[in-house]
Amino acid sequence: MPRRTTVLVTGGAGFIGSHTCVELLDHGYDVVVVDNYSNSSPGALERVAKIAERPPAAVHEIDVLDRHALSWVFDQHDIDAVIHFAAKKAVGESVELPVEYYDTNVGGTTALLRAMHDHGVHRLVFSSSCSIYGNATKVPLAEEDPAGPTNPYARSKWLCERLLADICRHLDGLCVLALRYFNPVGAHPSGLLGEVPRGVPNNVMPYLARVAAGRLPRLSVFGDDYPTSDGTGVRDYIHVMDVAAGHRVALEHLDEETGMRVFNLGTGQGTSVLQLVAAFERACGVPIPYEIIGRRPGDVAALIADPGAVARAWAWTTTRDLTAMCEDAWRFQELNPSGYPN
Ligand code: WQD
Repeated sequence: MPRRTTVLVTGGAGFIGSHTCVELLDHGYDVVVVDNYSNSSPGALERVAKIAERPPAAVHEIDVLDRHALSWVFDQHDIDAVIHFAAKKAVGESVELPVEYYDTNVGGTTALLRAMHDHGVHRLVFSSSCSIYGNATKVPLAEEDPAGPTNPYARSKWLCERLLADICRHLDGLCVLALRYFNPVGAHPSGLLGEVPRGVPNNVMPYLARVAAGRLPRLSVFGDDYPTSDGTGVRDYIHVMDVAAGHRVALEHLDEETGMRVFNLGTGQGTSVLQLVAAFERACGVPIPYEIIGRRPGDVAALIADPGAVARAWAWTTTRDLTAMCEDAWRFQELNPSGYPN
């Protein structure tokens, strides 16, 4: 049996990380997961193993800021490439706790880079975010459009992109792909894996699913006075399994160039909040009561990706539509009303 390519997935128990682990295992990679379970649970990795019919090669409960523990992981496993998801990602929380966000998101990335360098690992896919575009007035957004992060979370991702570019200029042979996700939503079609936010969801899709399940009374729509078709916020929702596939495809193209390259991960389609509500009701056959309230501070009118760069560079596009996103999110909610058992 030829040796499988081994990928270290930091934050591999999280929403996007766990779906990416399934995608990698399904495509013949070996996966080593590190996660501190601060916003995830080991239960997700049990579901990963069930779906993929084989477990990750190893799972280590580690904080990426723990340099000794991280170095130990690289000593234990022959890592070929790294996908770095582990980060704090709540915009509102980042305004309240900026030190934690810069420490974890920026410090965690430099700690990882040091461990990679010390162990001769030079291939990295980095989890970035469309939030670095800030209050963009232009849609759709391409990679060369200017960044304008407006909160500590978004700035932490933008700083990581900058430091990665600097380090790539300093360290020969380092290959980095930074993927700027738009709005990842949905769940694995098996209904075994999905998004399990702690407490009341901040993001609209898991909130919708709980309203549909009767666990929340109604959706509060944050403003209908934006310059959009129906006044509500427009986003580029992308199926989490397409995000996972995008990471696998990125791995396959990592070696093509040294240095840091950035790609947007989105569908290029914009959907308003009210259009999402209607799509969810159609897909799932359940009414979604809602009320229009004021805007949420920090929200922007519209964020839509131009997915052309990935299509040209990798001959790859997303394949799942909004109906699949809603159906898969709803199936996971129905089958897992209280999230994972542990
Ligand atoms: C979507 C739309 C809201 C909740 C988030 C992160 C961002 C990135 C993508 C990581 C907006 C509206 C929401 C609700 C609502 N993640 N909404 N009622 O804010 O676009 O981006 O995911 O990189 O960093 O912030 O996603 O789902 O919170 O909002 O009306 O209860 O739904 O105003 O228009 P967002 P979201």
